[in-house]
Amino acid sequence: MVMMRNRVGSVLEEPPTATGDLLEVDGLTVSFHTREGVVRAVSDVSFSLARGERLAIVGESGSGKSVMSMSLMQMVARGGTIDGGQVVLNGRNVLGLSNEKLRSVRGGEVAMVFQDPTTSLNPVMRVRDQMIRPMRQHLGLSSGAARERAISLLAGTGIPDPERNVDAYPHQLSGGMRQRVMIAMAISCKPSLLIADEPTTALDVTIQAQIVALLKRISDEQGSSVIFVTHDMGLVARFAHRVAVMYAGRIVEIGGVDELFANPQHPYTKGLLGSIPSIEGELPERLTQIPGLPPNLVTLGAGCPFAARCTEAVELSTEERPLLKEVQPGHSVACWVAQADAGAASTPIRLGRTIDLSETAGVG
Ligand SMILES: Nc1ncnc2c1ncn2[C@@H]1O[C@H](COP(=O)(O)OP(=O)(O)OP(=O)(O)O)[C@@H](O)[C@H]1O
Ligand SMILES: [Mg+2]
Repeated sequence: MVMMRNRVGSVLEEPPTATGDLLEVDGLTVSFHTREGVVRAVSDVSFSLARGERLAIVGESGSGKSVMSMSLMQMVARGGTIDGGQVVLNGRNVLGLSNEKLRSVRGGEVAMVFQDPTTSLNPVMRVRDQMIRPMRQHLGLSSGAARERAISLLAGTGIPDPERNVDAYPHQLSGGMRQRVMIAMAISCKPSLLIADEPTTALDVTIQAQIVALLKRISDEQGSSVIFVTHDMGLVARFAHRVAVMYAGRIVEIGGVDELFANPQHPYTKGLLGSIPSIEGELPERLTQIPGLPPNLVTLGAGCPFAARCTEAVELSTEERPLLKEVQPGHSVACWVAQADAGAASTPIRLGRTIDLSETAGVG
């Protein structure tokens, strides 16, 4: 595991010192009511984000990354409900805001970028008009200054001929260019928080690298916090200060990037990091496949959701759900075994598959 640090060792300086957290998420829970039953896509998710901090969210497909990051701004697809929790941004609970207030938060304080730009660009408006209006409104720029800023942001994303393309309609641009317009729009109003869900996955590798460098620079210069959903562990290492690992709608591990890569605690995280290629110096790619399937979220039992696929599970793992607990300063994990190893378990357990639950009865 120490090898990993060498290969993916983050080149980031220390995360910015917090002057109070920008975002506090507490107990966020989101369900979909489907014909098969209630799908709890996000379950009791809690984390905080300092000003200027970049948090990566990783996990297998279906682990709840998109539903979680969209629900932060009350965006939930039809059939879904936010069942509980708080999302406190700059001291205000966002989940309590009216639609009108939310809309103004979304365009200004908080910007979002999704994988599919067609859902977020207005097809009947030129790029310049979509970009200039919010900048005039939120930054108080003149239309000339806003146009200049639009061109420079488009240039920053590597869009060719930005002076001409700023006047284009979305349909006149390629998919990759539309995605870059979305990214330029997202950062144009200097948001305090940028939520980006795999924003570069559809782009080619060179453009991806350019965009990630741009987002990092903007976040450093403007002090914007970023929540970045990705499958790319190399990108996590280069971009994020902290990383949260999601499984079955929960955060099962969270910590600083260097610490978590060098010292992963959850068996699921260890499995995901198995994807890092062995060639020295080469950047890690997508998350590895872990044997077995994610659990059915409709019929999920009481224990650890990963227990059925876990080679380290103890009997308690199938009986009771472990909650996130700090095992190192700033590094938390939801795994009975890891917590017991670190001396941090709330319930004393004996390691090994033959745990006798009667030993733990009446304790704690
Ligand atoms: N509109 C919906 N209706 C019903 N279930 C949904 C809906 N959207 C998401 N889900 C379910 O919620 C869970 C989490 O989905 P989500 O899209 O957040 O996963 P993800 O981690 O973003 O996956 P990926 O890496 O593939 O983008 C999945 O089980 C998914 O089937
Ligand atoms: Mg997703």
